[in-house]
Amino acid sequence: MILSVIAAVGRNGEIGRNGGLLCHLPSDLKHFKAITSCHPVIMGRKTFESLPTGTLPNRRNIVISRNIDLKIEGAEIYPSLDYALIKLLTTEETFIIGGAQIYEQALPIADKLYLTKIYADFPDADIFFPPIDFSFWQETSRETFPADEANRYPFSFFEYERR
Ligand SMILES: NC(=O)c1ccc[n+]([C@@H]2O[C@H](COP(=O)([O-])OP(=O)(O)OC[C@H]3O[C@@H](n4cnc5c(N)ncnc54)[C@H](OP(=O)(O)O)[C@@H]3O)[C@@H](O)[C@H]2O)c1
Repeated sequence: MILSVIAAVGRNGEIGRNGGLLCHLPSDLKHFKAITSCHPVIMGRKTFESLPTGTLPNRRNIVISRNIDLKIEGAEIYPSLDYALIKLLTTEETFIIGGAQIYEQALPIADKLYLTKIYADFPDADIFFPPIDFSFWQETSRETFPADEANRYPFSFFEYERR
């Protein structure tokens, strides 16, 4: 299994505020959907609760929680990331989709990193991506887009593979 991390980060590593995303970037949402569709996605319970319409369609939804009574229709709940990964061993590629707590646990063991870098500061952010040591990561792809009517900030889609 390829273990991939996917995230959208601000200039200072910001990823969220008030339990939600930093901003609405429709191009990034499309990119996220295109990359993760048909693959399992693993998320922390708080990220699940932040999803506007519940489970993500066309993907196996895995939620990590210590709450053994938690039940979510259309999602599998596991008590740790390790437990979830064992269940997914035979899948082709699995995506870690956040939030900060789950990124922190997954980053040291991930094979691929899909990062949307948003070229803006978000001073009221309260959640951050863990520090990345880029000496472990080889950039394999980069596409940059200007701000436009739909996307308020310029951004780049980066892909990295573990060296
Ligand atoms: N910019 C992006 O790309 C992006 C992507 C995803 C999320 N986000 C943002 O990130 C924020 C949420 O991130 P977060 O760090 O607060 O929360 P999170 O990682 O989404 O979820 C944390 C929860 O996951 C469970 N958990 C974490 N580690 C665990 C472990 N080792 N074993 C069992 N359960 C564990 C716990 O659930 P229980 O409390 O139920 O036990 C914990 O409260 C939101 O603002 C969201 O919008 C941003």
